[in-house]
Amino acid sequence: MEEIGAYRTKGHPVENGHSDLTFRKEDFGHDFRWGVATASHQIEGSTDGDGRGACIWDEFSQKKGKIKNGDHARVACDFYNRYEEDLALVASLGFKQFRFSISWSRIIPAGYGEINHKGVDFYNRLIDKCLELDIEPWVTLYHWDLPHALEKRGGWKNRKIVEWFSAYVEICTHAFGDRVKNWLVLNEPMAVAGLGYTTGLHAPGKKGLWNFLPVVHHLALCQAEGGRVIRRTVADAYIGTALSCSYVHAYSDNPKDVRAAKRADALMNRLFIEPALGLGYPVDVFSYLLNIRKYMKPGDEEKLKFDFDFIGLQNYFSVVVRHSYLSPVLWLKEVPAGLRNVPVTEMGWEIDPDGMYNIIGQFEKYQGIKEIIISENGASFTDNLNGNEIPDKRRTGFFQDYLGAVLRAKNDGAKVKGYFAWTLLDNFEWAEGFSARFGLVYVDFKTQQRTIKHSGKWFSHFLNGIKSSE
Ligand code: FCB
Repeated sequence: MEEIGAYRTKGHPVENGHSDLTFRKEDFGHDFRWGVATASHQIEGSTDGDGRGACIWDEFSQKKGKIKNGDHARVACDFYNRYEEDLALVASLGFKQFRFSISWSRIIPAGYGEINHKGVDFYNRLIDKCLELDIEPWVTLYHWDLPHALEKRGGWKNRKIVEWFSAYVEICTHAFGDRVKNWLVLNEPMAVAGLGYTTGLHAPGKKGLWNFLPVVHHLALCQAEGGRVIRRTVADAYIGTALSCSYVHAYSDNPKDVRAAKRADALMNRLFIEPALGLGYPVDVFSYLLNIRKYMKPGDEEKLKFDFDFIGLQNYFSVVVRHSYLSPVLWLKEVPAGLRNVPVTEMGWEIDPDGMYNIIGQFEKYQGIKEIIISENGASFTDNLNGNEIPDKRRTGFFQDYLGAVLRAKNDGAKVKGYFAWTLLDNFEWAEGFSARFGLVYVDFKTQQRTIKHSGKWFSHFLNGIKSSE
């Protein structure tokens, strides 16, 4: 694995699917977990059904210009009503693990206080159906849909969120902990702090650097506190948290670019794992982060620690950064993949399987990480329907290349114990609305018809040991 240093153009990965794949499912080991990942707000719909309270994405989607094409998730994939059909799809594709998130405002409409039993019942039905189909449920407690009522009280900026979140987690573990053993506390806290409260591109749409550090600190406290609540209330729990990560390259060997890359790495890859491991915030390469002390109370350093059973890594792309005088505080800018003559997905994200390999290696170096689960990985491409077929060869090629990189890391000794594809269904892709399709299964949002894409067929052949022509 390389250290942070100059980016060098590598060979382009195979983009059209390998007809003769060199590895099999068995190469990952018999206890390796294979799953698909989803998130409540992206698929459920029924946003005011059965007593659910509003969340920040309901509010944000109503504001003009925030979501592409004015889309909103009021129906989305209608998973709230179609979960049985969709879980049958998961089973038919051959996945044995299903990751979903709980909508906080479905369980507690005001965020804190009274429980909505109909919301609890929905997740009970969903969990029971998983178990009936021999699928293991993996629950994410927070995948970005904060109750709007709590945002009105400051949301993630208010330290009280530690209390609100702990109460919510305990309600979930009491309700579901008898059947759910796999728990992820947060999904990509960096996206919450960066996109939700600093650039404002995601809900709740708050802008301003002054929001960043308090939000980071409260998320990091909740990450650990959530872990402690699960440990205390669920017997035999397997507890993790899901972190976005991207291998960072410096644009050149110029020391300024290398230092810029280290700052980007601190933000993108180190900010939430290191406090959990007891290493504190990564102030060594980014002194601005010292200002977080303003939001810390005596004893917080201890409270930030939690001994996770696994860390969920979510990797989609790698990044190249260079020094820039135009961005105060960070003093860096990203060199977009589009300017670097590298293959990209429809999101403009660089397709770089080596980045997956490298980032696993980077996390593997932390002594305190016990196990790694790739809790999300996938790609959005334009899907062209050909009759009833969706021949999405590029997505198949993406999965094959990234899986190859995961296997390479595993064979080098990395403790990777599972892989979750993002995602089962095309869905509400946050600010991109329905325009970005990541599913293994195509969704016609007018009719709600589901069609398995060729990538989905390939995956199921791979999982079932069938030689595939997809
Ligand atoms: C991840 C999110 C997930 C989805 C994918 C494409 O960052 O966790 O909800 O948006 O990206």
